[in-house]
Amino acid sequence: MARRAVPRFEAVKLTRYKHACHAMFHAPNEDKLFGRIPMRHTVLMQMRFDGRFGFPGGFVNLEEGLEAGLNRELEEEIGLDVRILGITEGDWAVTEVHDEQNFVSHFYIKKVTPEQIRQIETAATTAKDHGLESLGLVRVPVYTLPRDKVGGLPAFLSNTFIGTAREELLMGLEQEGILSHAEIQKALKASTTRRH
Ligand code: GTP
Ligand code: MN
Ligand code: MN
Ligand code: MN
Ligand code: MN
Ligand code: MN
Repeated sequence: MARRAVPRFEAVKLTRYKHACHAMFHAPNEDKLFGRIPMRHTVLMQMRFDGRFGFPGGFVNLEEGLEAGLNRELEEEIGLDVRILGITEGDWAVTEVHDEQNFVSHFYIKKVTPEQIRQIETAATTAKDHGLESLGLVRVPVYTLPRDKVGGLPAFLSNTFIGTAREELLMGLEQEGILSHAEIQKALKASTTRRH
């Protein structure tokens, strides 16, 4: 499954490819689990209809525009108030071309406030596609439980993800400074070498 990263302006010239856009919303989180384990950060993903984790978003037409298409999908899937929390070109993070599949995936990252995360979560259950394409937004555990060093992110990473959503999650965590490169490598190692 070869894929290559391309700049946004190059990708929109690929008119013979199918394009999809997905978005990661995240916010700082001061909460402490059981009153002592820092939650660190809130990162939203969704449980898809197919049982895989992914980001909200979907197929877009180049004619409607990448971000306009993404905002349409976000409204359908999570009832996002796109006038206030809509994705813009400035939120673009990475585009990857999958030549064998004639497919281009665009990934966006948007930092919001903890209050806005709650607004997004509340609205999501009223979305048109809630209970259909989207089985609900979930918060990704970005911490690792000190008790067994597997609970939290390592265990979460052993789930099944759609497309390259798992790689996008890891990239987002590092790029946004949510976790360090070393912390991510440690979680990946624990995810594959320890019992869950
Ligand atoms: P339909 O209305 O059924 O067409 O769904 P949709 O428009 O919401 O499309 P979907 O979200 O399933 O995304 C379209 C394609 O992008 C999927 O077939 C996957 O291959 C891929 N995809 C889905 N979610 C993600 C994601 O989070 N990241 C990446 N990189 N690809 C994804
Ligand atoms: Mn309890
Ligand atoms: Mn979708
Ligand atoms: Mn959709
Ligand atoms: Mn769609
Ligand atoms: Mn649809």
